[in-house]
Amino acid sequence: MKNIFSTTVNFFLKNWFYLIAIVLIIFAGTLLNKKPKTIDEKVEVLLQKMTLEEKIGQMNQYNGFWDVTGPAPKNGDAAKKYDHLKKGWVGSVLNVKGVEEVRKLQELVINETRLGIPLLFGFDVIHGYKTIFPIPLAEAASWDLEAIEKSARISATEAAAAGINWTFAPMLDVTRDARWGRVMEGAGEDPFLGAKIGVARIKGFQGDSLNKSNTIAATAKHFAGYGFAESGRDYNTVDIGTVTLYNTIFPPFKAAVENNVQTVMNSFNVVNGVPATANAFLQRDILKSKWNFEGFVVSDWGSGLEMIDHGYAKDLEQVAELSANAGSDMDMESYAYVKHLKELVESGKVNIKVIDDAVRRILKVKFELGLFDNPYLYCDSLREKELTNSKAFHEAALDVAKKSIVLLKNDGNILPLNKSQKNIAIIGVLAEEKNSPLGSWRLGADDSSAVSVLEGISKYTSNYTYAKGAALSLNATNFVDEVMINETDKSGFANAVQAAKNAEVVVMVLGEHGFQSGEGRSRTNLNLPGVQQELLEAVYKVNKNIVLIVMNGRPLTLNWADANVPAILEAWQLGSQSGNAIAHVLFGDYNPSGKLPMSFPKSVGQLPLYYNHFNTGRPGPKKEVFWSHYTDESNEPLYPFGFGLSYTKFDYSNLIIDKKNPKSITVSVTIRNYGKVAGEEIVQLYLHDKIASIVRPIKELKGFHKIMLKAAESKTITFTLTEKELGFYNENGTFVVEPGEFNIMVGASSKDIKLQQTILL
Ligand code: NOJ
Repeated sequence: MKNIFSTTVNFFLKNWFYLIAIVLIIFAGTLLNKKPKTIDEKVEVLLQKMTLEEKIGQMNQYNGFWDVTGPAPKNGDAAKKYDHLKKGWVGSVLNVKGVEEVRKLQELVINETRLGIPLLFGFDVIHGYKTIFPIPLAEAASWDLEAIEKSARISATEAAAAGINWTFAPMLDVTRDARWGRVMEGAGEDPFLGAKIGVARIKGFQGDSLNKSNTIAATAKHFAGYGFAESGRDYNTVDIGTVTLYNTIFPPFKAAVENNVQTVMNSFNVVNGVPATANAFLQRDILKSKWNFEGFVVSDWGSGLEMIDHGYAKDLEQVAELSANAGSDMDMESYAYVKHLKELVESGKVNIKVIDDAVRRILKVKFELGLFDNPYLYCDSLREKELTNSKAFHEAALDVAKKSIVLLKNDGNILPLNKSQKNIAIIGVLAEEKNSPLGSWRLGADDSSAVSVLEGISKYTSNYTYAKGAALSLNATNFVDEVMINETDKSGFANAVQAAKNAEVVVMVLGEHGFQSGEGRSRTNLNLPGVQQELLEAVYKVNKNIVLIVMNGRPLTLNWADANVPAILEAWQLGSQSGNAIAHVLFGDYNPSGKLPMSFPKSVGQLPLYYNHFNTGRPGPKKEVFWSHYTDESNEPLYPFGFGLSYTKFDYSNLIIDKKNPKSITVSVTIRNYGKVAGEEIVQLYLHDKIASIVRPIKELKGFHKIMLKAAESKTITFTLTEKELGFYNENGTFVVEPGEFNIMVGASSKDIKLQQTILL
């Protein structure tokens, strides 16, 4: 026994070194074999394998540069980009769509690059892919979060079926100036409504799990302040103070981050003199530190390069240095990273930690999307066929299009039209338009695929005469060229006037061309473009019984129409189902319920115009001139934020405020439909913090409910106000809740306050 013991001890003593080595090898082996489980672990393992060039490649995004179905490019820039793709120097492409194309590119990187890291395919799926939904500003008028989420859900499903896995939407810029063409792409002037709608759209795009084949990554854009371009001129200077930045511009973005938006796009403008792309305060301090954003930031198209014109960077190398250090993770089409980041890291101007952080974020999104499990997740041509333009998608598009229409005027209840209405004159070229209602951002759609107003109406009656009156545009319109408006040709007026003379009712379809709003399409004049106002007045001379349908991508100045025409329907650009939606409302199959998400000015001179403004020290009115006003126009909008009529009427009563728990105040109110038909009302709650450490807006939306009431039905609804609604960001950007008096208002629009009460907290 003793022998065995001493032999064993001796053995251990002699071989201890080898034994420990064996144990260590086994331990290390298990460690090495341990499969990374979480996405973060997987990202880390992959990152360790990557060369600097490959890392920088992930931060580089190219626009689609050759017809993927044809032969590979042999020379020029395209050949260079193609070579970069094969080397793994490209992390994402944009504007490549369709299963065949996407699959080809994905195969290229999977099969030819060293690490086979799948590409992200980005696309502007703004309000639909093939089935086009109303422009976002119109959808916002529905205040219907469920319908808006569904619209984004379907847009994502269709886009994903066509190979796309990342949309550059939603645009979360709060907008107060209708001259800016991109107001069409957002949710209007209110940060509270904008945040709710933004979140609904993100949920719709991203679904409940990103790695499904019908969900895509969303982008909160443009961070930040792009909607505040001075004088409404796109790409212009932005100059905003801390209070506006924190209380008006940030909230929708903060809400987006809290709701797991995968990416954020920076913007073309400066904030405090620093272009957003190189703005460390925005991208690092606020987004990534304060808000803990874990996704990645993509630059806007060439926004890096544009810093040279801004006068902020001397050359492309400095662009790369400034953007990367400031937290712009992916470079869209500036070529700055791919050309210069390597030498910048080698010279120590950009720390490798900056690169690693950006790449981690980008890889994480790719893992979240399930692309490493299956890079061809979005590449099923059968799905592409099945999930394009389906009947169910069009039904949903019709539903939200109807809900987006706003009834602005209905004197004498001229609307709805009787279904057996005789002798309708339909006037205005937009009535026959099948392209314009698709709006500006509909890059995936088939041209001229919308249902026109004529087609919609003809499903109800054939008892109409159509006269276009005048052309609206003179050229073939498209996404990149300026629309040339007909300012002179009135040769069709006589026919239109003749048709109106013989009609019992005239339906006039007037407004903007779909390509008059959108990116790069600012206007200084918000009247009906071209000769349309003259046409309206010429028709009015012979027949006053006019229903005006306005199609537009932004608020217009409709003073004359409002003063003279008995009925006005705001029909925006409603997408594929435009004509059907309008006809449903015209003939009363749908009772309009939309409310304006943006004030309609009386004059361009009033802009920027928004309901939630400060009171100023001289709110007036006063007898003498020394108060804040215009001498030639009122301060009021023509139609205020939150305004919209119905074919029925609602009555508000019984405002009860319970503040027993000051951290959760409840406000209840009873709404009754006292008209003859069922209808939806959007009940709005506004708050005014009367005295505070910084001045507060005269009212701010802090809650809304959309309810359906049958004729004679009543419902009591309850709002809850917490510190989140009661507080605000002060001049240091700190969120504070201050005790004091609050006026709580409930109403049918920002102007039409039905009930209010002041409480002390
Ligand atoms: C520029 C626009 O500002 C941005 O919103 C869009 O997503 C990109 N171009 C990509 O098309």
